[in-house]
Amino acid sequence: MSEIRKIGIITGGGDCSGLNAVINGITKTAVNKYGVEVVGFTRGYSGLYKNAFRDLDLKAVSGIMHEGGTILKSSNKDNLFNYPVGRKEDGTIEYKDVSDEAIKNLKYLGVDGLIVIGGDGTLTSARDFHRKGLPVVGVPKTIDNDLPATDVTFGYNTSLETITDALDKIHTTAYSHDRVMVVEVMGRHAGWLALEGGLAGSADVILIPEIPYDIDKIVEKIHQRDAFGRNFTIIVVSEGAKPKGGAVHVRETIEDSADSVRLGGIGDVITRQLQKRITEHEVRYTNLAYIQRGGITSQFDRALGLLFGVNAVDLMMSGGAGCMVQYRGRSITSIPLEEVVGNGEMGETSKGGKKQVDPEGQYVQAAKSIGISFGD
Ligand code: F6P
Repeated sequence: MSEIRKIGIITGGGDCSGLNAVINGITKTAVNKYGVEVVGFTRGYSGLYKNAFRDLDLKAVSGIMHEGGTILKSSNKDNLFNYPVGRKEDGTIEYKDVSDEAIKNLKYLGVDGLIVIGGDGTLTSARDFHRKGLPVVGVPKTIDNDLPATDVTFGYNTSLETITDALDKIHTTAYSHDRVMVVEVMGRHAGWLALEGGLAGSADVILIPEIPYDIDKIVEKIHQRDAFGRNFTIIVVSEGAKPKGGAVHVRETIEDSADSVRLGGIGDVITRQLQKRITEHEVRYTNLAYIQRGGITSQFDRALGLLFGVNAVDLMMSGGAGCMVQYRGRSITSIPLEEVVGNGEMGETSKGGKKQVDPEGQYVQAAKSIGISFGD
């Protein structure tokens, strides 16, 4: 007989489509299959510390499957093991380990197990709470598709749909005005969104972090298209793209966020550089930014989110805490959290590193075969 009678859920890190499908799958499985109660803590881990939660029953999760975002809200600045509690006299932020207070709150509420839905940072805290004796199961999440411990995460597919739709729309206006259109997409240091979105949306140039670009090669491609009679060019650029021998473009640094660097704006830089080199076309810049994180959840992400949610509860109830559900070869299995995020010793963080695009891999080679330039 499982000791678990009440499960808590949190959603941490940047939101994405499919989170509500996971919440739906967890709650319905816990209630219907195991007769277990569910509470959802709000705004990520800070909900555990501030005791901010809502009861989740079958009614609370009814009709949320298709909705983007998370009904529990999220936060990416709430590491309870190093939590900002105020400012010191010198103006710097003061951090404290408040994880014991979170555990106390959970005990008081009678929560016996926690399901944590998030990316690297959120799952690292999940590992640490598990080490403190709390049964924790992880569910991987990111639109960037850069977690090596799972073939794919929910949210990625919906973002690709958004990018593809945007590129279809940008094509028509690019054609009408003979323009060069630079479209920036997210993805941090992995080029998956740019690559797969760019392929589906018939981009002419795709710039990704894994293949540093040379601006003159992009100009060459634009001139090739002109010579061929196609007087417009669509360039998809990943926010983490960088020039040969250069660095990524940092938009801002957020002091109290675990991963403080925010990328963004490289598309604007490239636009201005191209406009200086090209007189025959106007060059315009669109940053898809947070549009990629919202919207109606795609069929794939609904199904994957639901499967992750159902399997996370099964794992918790069968003594599998300390693990994360993963998607491998079209089935759901599990992997220890320590293998996902490392053991934290000697500064080790993400054991598997980031899953990046292989410049020699099939996708890039296929793109090159059909004439797409990577600016290399
Ligand atoms: O990791 C998901 C992601 O959307 C990245 O693609 C992007 O760089 C980042 O989050 C943006 O973070 P924030 O919501 O803090 O601006």
